[in-house]
Amino acid sequence: MQNKLRTLEVEAKKAIGEAGSLSKLEKERVHYLGRRGELTLILRGMKDLSIEERPVVGKLANQIRAHLEACIQERLAQLKGNLKAERLKKERLDVTLPGTRPQVGSKHPLTLVLDEIKELFAGLGYTVVEGPEIESDYYNFEALNLPKIHPARDMQDTFYITKDILLRTHTSPVQVRTMEARAPNIPVRIICPGKVYRRDADSTHSPMFHQVEGLVIDKGITLANLKGVLTLFAREIFGSDVKVRFRPSYFPFTEPSAEVDISCVICGGEGCRVCSQTGWLEILGSGLVHPRVLAMSGYDPEVVSGFAFGMGVERIAMLKYGIDDIRLFFDNDVRFLHQFAIG
Ligand code: DAH
Repeated sequence: MQNKLRTLEVEAKKAIGEAGSLSKLEKERVHYLGRRGELTLILRGMKDLSIEERPVVGKLANQIRAHLEACIQERLAQLKGNLKAERLKKERLDVTLPGTRPQVGSKHPLTLVLDEIKELFAGLGYTVVEGPEIESDYYNFEALNLPKIHPARDMQDTFYITKDILLRTHTSPVQVRTMEARAPNIPVRIICPGKVYRRDADSTHSPMFHQVEGLVIDKGITLANLKGVLTLFAREIFGSDVKVRFRPSYFPFTEPSAEVDISCVICGGEGCRVCSQTGWLEILGSGLVHPRVLAMSGYDPEVVSGFAFGMGVERIAMLKYGIDDIRLFFDNDVRFLHQFAIG
């Protein structure tokens, strides 16, 4: 019986040492040391041994069990170690590989231009005021000296919600809303950026676009103030060597009215396709606030005067950046937008 045990020990040790996986090792454990395993099987024969032999064989059997269990633990550690090494090899991380860069967004070119305009006027003491995009006929037209039958309404055909409610065609109604809130005495120095809507669509007109309105009201405001501010504006936005021209024009809400041109940013005034060979580019409309507009909003035109202006932000951005199609602003093609990323 002792021989049998020793043979079993040798055989089991070899099998354990050769078990190539955790599951094989467990199989060998059950096979040799399990409740119905080889060792138990041999020990069943103990009952046939003499009283003297029993403790000797029992002791030997326990030693062998302990030894084999130790062998199993050792093999287990080995196999686990191998597995871990293999996994580490497979999952190795090369920390020197270049990473995936997160896509960083950038400001829209219109936002860039708007920011620049706002900053410029903030520096001159203007505050930013906004108004509703859905406007009443009264604020959009009537209070700006554009009565119902006025032919100039045709130039600003828009989207009507009802007969009296419409999408504003310009930011000028914010002038009226501000004057109403501050009349009769408080001076005004504001710019009003925002979206406006017109029934127009081609490479230089979009049904929705942006304007910045300006309004200054105080005692003694003259055309000289208007010229000074708008000349400064043009030079800041388009460069100090740009030439500025004030051309007589007509708007129902200003008297006198002037359109402001700058020397062509493409040809410098020589004449080219962009400026239609004139050497000049129109950038905004302006004028001294019509006395009737002041009076309708509660200011006394005998006491105060004012100037106003209105510009299209898309137009400014197109001239500044040399963009030839207004639709590029709204296509949201990142190849276009990314060109304006700073840094
Ligand atoms: N509201 C005019 C437009 O949309 C632009 C304009 C012209 C605004 C003269 C003014 C102004 O404030 O004085 O065409």
